[in-house]
Amino acid sequence: MLSYVQCSLPLKFCAAISPSFYQEDPRKARTSSTFDMDKLKSTIKQFVRDWSEAGQPERESCYKPIIQEIQRLFPSDQYDVSKVSVLVPGAGLGRLAWEIARLGYACQGNEWSFFMLFSSNFVLNRCEEENALTLYPWIHQFSNNKKSSDQTRPIRFPDVNPQSLPLNTDFSMVAGDFMEVYSESECWDCVATCFFIDTANNVLEYVDTIWNILKPGGVWINLGPLLYHFESIANELSIELSYEDIRTAMIKYGFLFEVEKESMQTTYTENECSMLRYIYDCVFFVARKPSELQFNGQEDEKHQHNSPPAAKSSRREGSNRLT
Ligand SMILES: C[S@@+](CC[C@H](N)C(=O)[O-])C[C@H]1O[C@@H](n2cnc3c(N)ncnc32)[C@H](O)[C@@H]1O
Repeated sequence: MLSYVQCSLPLKFCAAISPSFYQEDPRKARTSSTFDMDKLKSTIKQFVRDWSEAGQPERESCYKPIIQEIQRLFPSDQYDVSKVSVLVPGAGLGRLAWEIARLGYACQGNEWSFFMLFSSNFVLNRCEEENALTLYPWIHQFSNNKKSSDQTRPIRFPDVNPQSLPLNTDFSMVAGDFMEVYSESECWDCVATCFFIDTANNVLEYVDTIWNILKPGGVWINLGPLLYHFESIANELSIELSYEDIRTAMIKYGFLFEVEKESMQTTYTENECSMLRYIYDCVFFVARKPSELQFNGQEDEKHQHNSPPAAKSSRREGSNRLT
């Protein structure tokens, strides 16, 4: 399966992805589970989305609106952007976080899937030459091919040199469950979630975590659908709130919606040649945790000290919009 990558990975790598890969005799590999194979197939497609020229239109529709908002809210002519901390939970193969870091922001991606983590480590730390490697991401798709060659067509990656970030860039990836890793309050100026919030068993726990970790005055930028990942999984808690209900809960927490668009059409790891293609009608919002929180009518002093980095000069009038 990993032979789709031209440089073959050592077998140990596979064992780390799935400990059940070996039987008692570690030299004898057994068939991978359907679960592992599905994860592998979606990870391979994620290479197209994040690190190929073919993924450029998808990145324009999903990542660009988020990046534009970060630049609008923390413009480099008014902020020392190296001091603006941005967290990208559920970072996948890391392209969104990498692009934010490339602009000079202090950016951290967080991811818990071993498939994504091993793959992002590979692309971010081991790939240098542009379009040097080849994948066949659609080889498993036997239906909806107009031409046989559509199924076997290659994709080259990475479309950029991932190692081309300036030396002093503050960019990191952290492995682990978002809610477990990020328990420290008021650390982040911005949390950027893309196709992430529906991965929760209970999306309100994500809202709670994001509220907690944002500095007062910090912003949460979100783009994505609500395709709840645990909806049909046996023995898993799954609370499938509508966007309307999430929004109500966020307002009760104290979030102020500054930008809101309820219809941003995007794709996700789309096979542009397929006869079956999905379009997500995504929600996009920018919601701010107010800088001065009121508790029982009294200002919370603690929050005064942890505000986002001061702008170099005053922010432009009317930069916040409600749509
Ligand atoms: C639908 S993918 C989106 C990936 C990327 N943000 C993008 O837009 O391409 C959701 C990602 O969130 C990760 N994820 C799900 N639950 C997570 C959690 N509790 N902590 C960290 N990452 C998580 C998944 O492994 C997956 O890579």
